[in-house]
Amino acid sequence: MSDCKTYYLTTPIYYVNDVPHIGHAYTTIIADTIARYSRLKGIDTFFLTGTDEHGQKIEEAARKRGKTPKEYADEISAKFKELWDEFEISYDKFIRTTDLEHIKGVQKAFLEMYKKGDIYKDYYEGHYCVSCESFVAPSQLVNDELCPDCGKPTRIIKEESYFFKLSKYQDAILKWLKEKKPILPESRANEVIRFVEEGLKDLSITRTSFEWGVKLPKEINDPKHVVYVWLDALFNYLTALGYGSEDESLVKKYWPAKLHIVGKDILKFHAVYWPAFLMSIGYELPKKIAAHGWWTRDGEKMSKSKGNVINPKEVADAYGIENFRYFMLREVPFGADGDFSEKALIDRINNDLGNDLGNLLNRIIGMAYKYFDGKVSSRDIEKYYANELSEAREIIKDIEEKYLWKMQTHKYLEELWKILSIGNKAIDTYKPWELMKNGEEDKAMALIGLIANLLAMVAVYLHAVMPKTTSTIADTLGFEINTERFNAINEGILLNDFVIKKIPPLFPKIEKPLMKKEEVKKEPENIITIDEFFKVELKVGEVIEAEEVKKSKKLLKLQVDLGEERLRQIIAGIKEYYKPEELVGTQVCVVSNLKPAKLMGMMSEGMLLAAKDDSGLSLIRPEKKKKTGTPIK
Ligand code: MSP
Repeated sequence: MSDCKTYYLTTPIYYVNDVPHIGHAYTTIIADTIARYSRLKGIDTFFLTGTDEHGQKIEEAARKRGKTPKEYADEISAKFKELWDEFEISYDKFIRTTDLEHIKGVQKAFLEMYKKGDIYKDYYEGHYCVSCESFVAPSQLVNDELCPDCGKPTRIIKEESYFFKLSKYQDAILKWLKEKKPILPESRANEVIRFVEEGLKDLSITRTSFEWGVKLPKEINDPKHVVYVWLDALFNYLTALGYGSEDESLVKKYWPAKLHIVGKDILKFHAVYWPAFLMSIGYELPKKIAAHGWWTRDGEKMSKSKGNVINPKEVADAYGIENFRYFMLREVPFGADGDFSEKALIDRINNDLGNDLGNLLNRIIGMAYKYFDGKVSSRDIEKYYANELSEAREIIKDIEEKYLWKMQTHKYLEELWKILSIGNKAIDTYKPWELMKNGEEDKAMALIGLIANLLAMVAVYLHAVMPKTTSTIADTLGFEINTERFNAINEGILLNDFVIKKIPPLFPKIEKPLMKKEEVKKEPENIITIDEFFKVELKVGEVIEAEEVKKSKKLLKLQVDLGEERLRQIIAGIKEYYKPEELVGTQVCVVSNLKPAKLMGMMSEGMLLAAKDDSGLSLIRPEKKKKTGTPIK
């Protein structure tokens, strides 16, 4: 990977049904880190992100809010873009699937596949998950109904549809997966291989039951169909480079993509459908598809109803975007699920960043000024500390091949931190204050020089993760981070002599959580759905007979007409508020499908609705007289 001339990488394009959250930020931050690293090495890099705006899910989300899909997509897409701009995400293009050039590109691809004979018309009948925008085979359903990926109920759809001959590409996809090993981490590859080996069915690639999507190419002349949103979305990786437009020079320059970063939930679309589409139009397949895990919060899945979704902006506002980036990349092994807790974030800032990195810098600033007026020299490092230096060089030698290009960012950072430990340990071992006392000034100066050079290595290699912080460190150490410096460090060239700058601590200790505790907008525990409500049958009834239950202070025995063949006996606790004779001939509201129960030995077959406060109890009655048995809705 290190020897490639161009590097094209992508994030998934984000659905605009909802605002950005920590999961989106995670994918984008990983991609941004890789893009920055690639550029720092001097590789011509193209980094794509954007929004996925078509499909049933967006159409429904917009309608719920009383907006047109386009209005809604404009609003949410802008939120993603604003957030990435605020986070200084270094994307080269932000694509929207509602962009005209994209739409044209999708139509071109569809037509190519159609002409090739890979598309045919039929009917789709089966389950569909709107949340995942995915067709679910009966064998994959959970409890005969639920989506295996998100657990939500699927819908049964039956509609005319064009199909893509996915089955035709089964062997070629398998071969590619097995020979080229494009999936990262490799441990995830098996599940995809198994999925393909189980047999690929042809894929429905158009929908007719809604309108919000790319229309079929006019040559096919079938206006009631729109392109399946996943086909539409996947092609963004090509249309963003101009595929289907007059100028395809970027396609020539950057395709195939070196890396698609995705969440594990959408790996199948990228590792099975996407390569098949590409084979169909005769394009090379992407080099790597890296699938990361999911973030939970304090051990729980994030969801709007639980009110525990993390807003990345709030985290960044409280702790700083770069600290947040470091945390995300360091905290979880790529591919595994990760848990966000404020405590874990604070620990990382105070320990890794504050103690290990920040303090090391402060220690040499302090020593340099105490002993040498701030002067730092690399002159005698090799003479006194060759071992330390070569240990550190050994770490950076293959750190990118082993970890970075494999997305093992946590390992990558762990390795860099070993360089900091070499520095911290060297101070404790060689005790510069004693060296100074013993008149070994050269050795003390060389020690400060060693630490400065170790910090320079770390700053350069950490630059892609924490661009501003590391630039500040570099400035303190009298250099700039750029490709030239990157190469110099790798060639073993040490820093020129310089005067170290005094700066305030980079990572002030965080004593207590800084994020505002959002009011948890939890739904009340007792919330019911409309369907649950409709399970309760309420009817207007007329009291035909009423008498006291002798031995009870509270109960009256009523015979109520609910418009059925016989009267219902209802035992009601209203004796203290109503006389039997007052009730006869009046109307009441009755819960009519309550399971009959015995009260004081008498059967009660319903319940009256009433309201009770300090001033007593009143029965709830229709405002105007209604036919007995009228349902209350
Ligand atoms: N629109 C599709 C992608 C099309 S790409 C051609 C989509 N969008 S999404 O907005 O639902 O998800 C985008 C990414 O966010 C996915 O990679 C998904 O895995 C990731 N995440 C969504 N929630 C997440 C977490 N809680 N944690 C980590 N990432 C998660 O899918």
